Amino acid sequence: MTDIINLFIQEWDWPCPAGMQEEALSALEEGHVLFFPRLSFSLEESEARFLSAATGSRSKNISLDVATGKLCGSSLSRTAARPLRVMMQRFAENSRELMLNLFPRFKAEVMQGRTSFRPVEIVGRATSWRKDDTRLHVDSFPSSPVRDERILRVFCNVNSEGRHRTWRLGESFEKVASRYLPSLPASAWGSSQLLRLFRITKSRRSAYDHLMLQLHDRMKADLDYQSSADQIAYDFPAGSTWMAFTDQVSHAAMSGQFLLEQTFYLPVASMKDPSKSPLRVLERLTGRKLT
Ligand code: SIN
Ligand code: FE
Repeated sequence: MTDIINLFIQEWDWPCPAGMQEEALSALEEGHVLFFPRLSFSLEESEARFLSAATGSRSKNISLDVATGKLCGSSLSRTAARPLRVMMQRFAENSRELMLNLFPRFKAEVMQGRTSFRPVEIVGRATSWRKDDTRLHVDSFPSSPVRDERILRVFCNVNSEGRHRTWRLGESFEKVASRYLPSLPASAWGSSQLLRLFRITKSRRSAYDHLMLQLHDRMKADLDYQSSADQIAYDFPAGSTWMAFTDQVSHAAMSGQFLLEQTFYLPVASMKDPSKSPLRVLERLTGRKLT
């Protein structure tokens, strides 16, 4: 079962003592959620106007690639979007600082992925079952294969009306994998090359990506599992931050509006204990090398 580990950090750039770093690293790699109840992201007065569903367009996500400055998914004009980009860049920097202060060992290898802003209320958001994040799942995305990398995410609830973001957290990765693995077909020969050839994926899917996608889909499609799996509900209050390996932690986002999120990619080899990674767990359970 997933635990919530409280860490009372109040500043994004607070230098964490070694004891806290060790505790946080073990908990993170074990598949728990690190929760920072006193760590908030302050908006400038001029940024408060972005807290409106109208900031988004049709997609649930406004995303920023910090490396190129490219912003996608907002309804704003180029000029009006500039300060939104500045706000998201600040969150990207803060998240990186927090992550590296907690986990200095990740510094050499970690890659900064997309920064996201989610301005739309989750309840009532129309979506397909596969994209429906109110269903328990582990993260895996058809268009973004990770090959042998972990997905580490920092979330911050920036709701200005004091509203929680409510999640469900499910059973351990090993339990999820053991439940579905026996019924999953082995990946068809050549399918990853074909997907790449037709530019469906940005880079080649590994056998690991293939299995993770199947797990993601099987979990979401299984309504009986959704209601009967061991789980807890958790309210992340407005003005709080949390972090988890979302490729490992079974999670679902049930309600809430206005979230900032930063994704990081980390090679499995950079972990303190790679045997805890979904990749190594799946390799152990299938008896196959998956990358
Ligand atoms: C998810 O990662 O599944 C959604 C998280 C959220 O929007 O709170
Ligand atoms: Fe998710």
